[in-house]
Amino acid sequence: EKGGYEYFMLKEIAEQPEALASTLLGHLENGRIVLDEQRMSDQDLRDVDKVFVVACGTAYHAGMIAKYAIEHWTRLPVEVELASEFRYRDPVLDRSTLVVAISQSGETADTLEAVRHAKGQKARVLAICNTNGAQIPRESDAVLYTHAGPEIGVASTKCFLAQIAAAYMVGLALAQAVGTKYPDEVVAEFRSLEETPAAVAKVLEQMEPVRELARRYASSDTVLFLGRHVGYPVALEGALKLKELAYIHAEGFAAGELKHGPIALIEDGLPVIVVMPSPEGRPVLHSKMVSNVREIQARGARTIIIAEPDDAAAAAIADHLVPIPHTPTLLQPLVSTVPLQVFAATVAQERGYDVDKPRNLAKSVTVE
Ligand code: F6R
Repeated sequence: EKGGYEYFMLKEIAEQPEALASTLLGHLENGRIVLDEQRMSDQDLRDVDKVFVVACGTAYHAGMIAKYAIEHWTRLPVEVELASEFRYRDPVLDRSTLVVAISQSGETADTLEAVRHAKGQKARVLAICNTNGAQIPRESDAVLYTHAGPEIGVASTKCFLAQIAAAYMVGLALAQAVGTKYPDEVVAEFRSLEETPAAVAKVLEQMEPVRELARRYASSDTVLFLGRHVGYPVALEGALKLKELAYIHAEGFAAGELKHGPIALIEDGLPVIVVMPSPEGRPVLHSKMVSNVREIQARGARTIIIAEPDDAAAAAIADHLVPIPHTPTLLQPLVSTVPLQVFAATVAQERGYDVDKPRNLAKSVTVE
């Protein structure tokens, strides 16, 4: 049941610390990352020389984020592709390709067909799934389950965070297999993942100002989202949540692309939500983002900036500042996504919509 919340989605947003903690639980055994089911040999994992991530919607955004971590840790090339595109072209796959299929339901038609196509080409398939015994994990060579618990709200929230954590563990498992990380480095990365449930819990305690902002901007016709690096897929996810729940035109951009077109959209009073890179973690990206924000502000944008609390540069240029705790750069999506989920849900509620059942959408898309 809804446990006192008006909607399942709100309950599921609140459950994110637990979803993360349960997903991580038990995956570090004797200093090594372990998967849930592995029907391929350790040698097969060692032989991986290229990774594809295939998924749809929110799960695809989780894959985009995972690419940064997997490439960084393994030095293997990672391509992330919409399952509906992957399956209809002729991707270069062989037995040393690992295809990671991310799906909450494990039944999404396009993702399942992408898995079948990959297997037909002799690639190995690893599933990240929230549903025990679903079709995608059944047809895969290895599985890592997200233990987020059942997700009832149509819009994915806690499964998104759990998918990122799971995909990061896949990255660490690969790094240990191919030998790009020493065992103690793998353990250290896992330990920082274990700190994220507490960080997310902290963000959740500070959501009232975000709800106020959402009410204030609820009648907007358009909201834009900007990010860089791992913040770019977060911007895409923030926009997806807002369009599917609140039926508002919302778009996410890589901030570096502004000058290549999107800045033409900026007009007086347009709300733009900015995911600010950590000034400490990525100073170059941070300062670039500060200039991007100045450019849109000069053209009249109202800026809502999600940033670390001691980010004085962000505070100086924000119309509204939403603080998130400091995390290592790769882990920032786990905290920066939360205010975007709350923003979208609150705008939808303010407009009188059922956030659990957005119009025209189904929880599990089993037809193409
Ligand atoms: C958006 C959302 C969808 C799903 C997508 C994939 O909030 O929930 O975009 O992420 O339909 O579904 P799964 O993960 O079940 O394959």
